[in-house]
Amino acid sequence: METVETIAGARARRCTDRAAGRRVALVPTMGYLHEGHLALVRRARELGDAVWVSIFVNPTQFGPNEDFERYPRDLKRDAALLEAEGVDVLFAPTVEEMYPREPVVKVSFPGLDNVLCGASRPGHFAGVGLVVAKLFNIVEPHVAVFGQKDAQQALLIRRLAADLSFPVEIEVTPTVREPDGLAMSSRNTYLSPTERAAAPVLYRALLAAAGAIAAGERDPAAVEALLRATVGAEPLAGLEYAVCVDAETLGRPERIGRPVLLALAVRFGATRLIDNLPVTPPEEG
Ligand code: PAJ
Repeated sequence: METVETIAGARARRCTDRAAGRRVALVPTMGYLHEGHLALVRRARELGDAVWVSIFVNPTQFGPNEDFERYPRDLKRDAALLEAEGVDVLFAPTVEEMYPREPVVKVSFPGLDNVLCGASRPGHFAGVGLVVAKLFNIVEPHVAVFGQKDAQQALLIRRLAADLSFPVEIEVTPTVREPDGLAMSSRNTYLSPTERAAAPVLYRALLAAAGAIAAGERDPAAVEALLRATVGAEPLAGLEYAVCVDAETLGRPERIGRPVLLALAVRFGATRLIDNLPVTPPEEG
């Protein structure tokens, strides 16, 4: 595995891949890798001949009172995991390399970045959009792999690629979970043992809501009430949002007739966890 830390180094390596006719698959991450990230890497391996992983804790997507400073980092361990996966290139730039000065360009997604996670994290998706656009321009991947775990992010990146005509295919892979259903996340390491024991309530709530839709419930308000009630029964869980929205527009449908996204954000102490489940209602005959 080749590790590059500069944009010039990445471009030089990219030229080599191009000359060799390799199909480049990129997995953007913020590091502190877990099985969820590695599932993306394995998918990238299936989709490309040269697998690139970026590790960059992107300051522009963290709010002033968020966890940028204390976000977990362990580049040595991450590099060993990626090496073992047969990754070809690790791109791990510094903040100065990516942002030599304050960027003035804003990547916004009006109507899509102020709902769900965007409502409580103003500017977050603009930061994600900016860094992913930069990564696409630096690496010029044929395909880029993202996780369903961050459903709103995946949807916005699909729009970013389509609306700005980036010549990249966007692949989204299913959420990888712990045996008890908790979605894997670098932030799970913040949880105390009692919080960790309570955290599977997110997935339980999503499954209960999906079960209600499968059983015929078509009222999004009733589905949201079920999500809220399930999370509410867990004393350590502080609900931020629980929604049943259209999977494409993220707007609240009047009735569940098309694919929806069930999505939750829940706080355990200072730790904010998210999870979601896409649900396609059975055809009504
Ligand atoms: P990060 O949180 O490190 O996640 C990197 C990628 O891994 C994202 O596409 C995310 O959806 C995916 N992922 C995380 N946990 C997962 C799980 N349990 N199952 C499947 N996929 C999972 O998301 C980011 O970084 C950043 O916002 C980034 C896109 C890199 C831009 O800075």
